Amino acid sequence: MKYVKLGELAKKDRDLITAARKAADNAYAPYSGFAVGAAARATDGKIHTGANMENAAYGLGLCAEVSALTAANTAGNYDRLEAIAIVGFGFFPEIRASEIVTPCGRCRQLIFESAQLSGLDIDVFTCSGDLERIEHQKISELLPRAFGPKSLQLSNPPKPTVVGNRSLDANKRRLTKA
Ligand code: THU
Repeated sequence: MKYVKLGELAKKDRDLITAARKAADNAYAPYSGFAVGAAARATDGKIHTGANMENAAYGLGLCAEVSALTAANTAGNYDRLEAIAIVGFGFFPEIRASEIVTPCGRCRQLIFESAQLSGLDIDVFTCSGDLERIEHQKISELLPRAFGPKSLQLSNPPKPTVVGNRSLDANKRRLTKA
């Protein structure tokens, strides 16, 4: 892990961090009063963002990283991620923006899955809400000795389009028979 300054980073990493900060503004976090934004960048340069989303049934809350990774997956980029930035700050009862937010254990596991799929040790930028403090590390540092697709000997997981076409064909056959 190393401390970095926003102004010293490459433009693509600055853009990633500012996208995460912007996403945090859309957090739905009335219960914790803590906003988090995440932005994941794919190898094609596309940035997928997410914010935390809480629920009156407290245990159902979703982390910002989950939202961003889900957005990347929906765009077909979950297996092509190279970097993710996370920014968080308390906003109730008062602003608390000077502490660095690191991903929770579940989110580390979700990032790690993506890293094993892409074969890239994903860069993780963990940031304070005011962006004054930023840490740069690899997902392997945040989650060493992790369990992943390779532990299940799944190095090339099948894509649902294959399954989808098959089930479509099966449905067609059923329709023809009827
Ligand atoms: N949270 C995230 O969105 N990501 C993290 O990595 C840590 C925590 C959210 C969950 C909850 O809505 C709020 O922050 C306070 O825990």
